[in-house]
Amino acid sequence: MKKLALIGAQWGDEGKGKITDALAETSQVVVRYQGGHNAGHTIYPNGQKFVLHLIPSGIFHPQTTSVIAHGVVLEPKALVREIQDLQRAGVKVSAENLKISTEANIITPLHVLLDAARESSKKTGSKKIGTTGKGIGPCYEDFYSRKGLKLKHLFSLEKIKERLMESFAEKVTLIENLYKQKVELQFDEIAHELHYWGSQLQDYAADTWSFLQEDHGTIVYEGAQGILLDINYGTYPYVTSSSPSVAGIYSGAGVANGQMDRVIGVMKAYCTRVGNGPFPTELHDEMGQSLQKKGGEIGATTARIRRCGWLDLPMLRYAIKAGNLTELAITKLDVLSGFSELKICTHYHYRGKVYDQFYPFMEMEHIQAQLESMEPFHDNFDNEDPFSPALNAYLAKIESAAQIPIRFLSYGPNRNQLKIINSSLQGEDNEAFGPHLRRRATGSQLQSL
Ligand code: GDP
Ligand code: IMO
Ligand code: MG
Repeated sequence: MKKLALIGAQWGDEGKGKITDALAETSQVVVRYQGGHNAGHTIYPNGQKFVLHLIPSGIFHPQTTSVIAHGVVLEPKALVREIQDLQRAGVKVSAENLKISTEANIITPLHVLLDAARESSKKTGSKKIGTTGKGIGPCYEDFYSRKGLKLKHLFSLEKIKERLMESFAEKVTLIENLYKQKVELQFDEIAHELHYWGSQLQDYAADTWSFLQEDHGTIVYEGAQGILLDINYGTYPYVTSSSPSVAGIYSGAGVANGQMDRVIGVMKAYCTRVGNGPFPTELHDEMGQSLQKKGGEIGATTARIRRCGWLDLPMLRYAIKAGNLTELAITKLDVLSGFSELKICTHYHYRGKVYDQFYPFMEMEHIQAQLESMEPFHDNFDNEDPFSPALNAYLAKIESAAQIPIRFLSYGPNRNQLKIINSSLQGEDNEAFGPHLRRRATGSQLQSL
């Protein structure tokens, strides 16, 4: 039994969906353990674009079981729609290959209203978190204050009413009296709707914790968001309300025998961030706009423009430690290829001192990123030639800062635009991957580094 975690090493949207889909080919189970439909994971299984919000990214491999574990917050209507859209597109989604935890907490329309009311009450742009508006924070609040409604409760109207009562009264009081917005929704209407959407999910409901305790072969735990959006490790308060890092797997899904075999951090070759919050290497110039345009950096869930910046090594060093990462997957190298300028942040200047890593005590507005110019690379990844010296130097810079091996390089959105590499920090062990991925392994480009 092998257990792999795949976690965003930046501020989300690193390409987790694509890498999960690749790993799922040779895995038996893929598990979402936190977050909700704030996530948007893009996959091109056969040239056609799919964006998954709640369904794990292994769903395009019919032999793989997809699990939505108890740490995920579920908007039942959104989930039913996502299942139906996939089924209409000919993707197999049935009780056989999708299991949803009966213990997952439910996002109600009141959570969505409260999320929006809070954001709109913050007068200045910088005070707003810039949430996805999906009700994620308010739902986790109800869970932690023990007022949560779980999937299992949706199967009985009586139970829904009993559990919803307290939360409904509280939310309406807040929204109407504090945020001065009229709540048009009726208690009975919400209860009936939840009951209906719950009935659509009943066939998939399962004790996923027990399922994950059994040996099914290889399990991939697919993170949503990223370490820098983690409620504990991220750039608080500009974070999401769950734990994408490894700790979230233990609390949100369960791990048999307690050990993860590998924790793969997914990162872009540069940085992006959607929503508000600090971003030390953000580019406010033409270069930033070019990256945004060439990278198609538009949010997969909210269609907001993603802010772009140079790769931030001090933040990466922190994310590797905070996330307990054992290896890296780098995406969007094709986007960074071909520019006439290439920079990387190597250090921070903070209150008169120089640091090579971000630390939680740092007030982000006082950080100044020290950038180093690197030779731009112009590689065309689709041929089998070795990488250019400039690209090798860029990857070597990342790896020597990270001190964990780079194992995957992605150079396009499609499934086959992915190379597994052997790193100087790790011996050749492509046997760990299945035959399809091994066929694409490129040998030893990084071994000389
Ligand atoms: P996720 O949330 O981490 O799964 O990432 P998103 O799907 O939100 O955003 C990643 C975007 O980059 C999607 O549009 C992907 O199709 C695309 N993508 C992933 N890897 C690559 C890559 O290596 N090159 C290019 N050009 N696009 C990529
Ligand atoms: P994937 O899984 C990027 C951001 C929002 C906002 C903050 C809080 O696709 O990488 P929330 O709605 O969670 O309360 O918003 O977190 N955010 C994401 N940014 N990718 C995501 O998911 C995100 N999910 C939430 O933009 O800044
Ligand atoms: Mg995304």
